[in-house]
Amino acid sequence: MMKCNRLVDAGRRQFLRGGAMATAGAAVAAISPAQQAQASPALAQIDYPSNRLANVADLAVNEPMDIEYPDADSPGVLLKLGEPVEGGVGPDSDIVAYTVLCPHKGWYLNYNGEDRSFNCPGHFSRFDAEAGGQQIWGHATQNLPQFTLRVDNNGDIFAEGCSDLIFGRPSNVL
Ligand code: FES
Repeated sequence: MMKCNRLVDAGRRQFLRGGAMATAGAAVAAISPAQQAQASPALAQIDYPSNRLANVADLAVNEPMDIEYPDADSPGVLLKLGEPVEGGVGPDSDIVAYTVLCPHKGWYLNYNGEDRSFNCPGHFSRFDAEAGGQQIWGHATQNLPQFTLRVDNNGDIFAEGCSDLIFGRPSNVL
């Protein structure tokens, strides 16, 4: 009887593929949770030079104050939200600051005080000011970078870093 070499080859390939899959599965299983945690990508948080932005007494609830940080090419707003929020500082943990350059293509964002969101007139991305700049909707592929703030004993507010890459910069390095 004639043997079909094609079928034999196909069977051999299937056998080898199955062996490779089993080996890969064993390798994945051998990675402990601690090793997986070490393999996680680093956060984009970057420490910039400290810069005084304003005093707590200068702010009114839900009225954004224009700022520039970490330099004059980086517009943003300082915002008192009136209730504790993610990343909020000050006596009420309600003061935050964000870039106003949309992370998608850099259009200037508008602040909507009614729902406390930043809105992009370019392609309509939206970001939640009360949730650390979390993207609500739109073309952007990251949340709105939030400036890291500190308040001293005199109520002076300092920016000292940023949570993510500011639009237009190849890296968060001055
Ligand atoms: Fe803001 Fe495109 S520039 S969504």
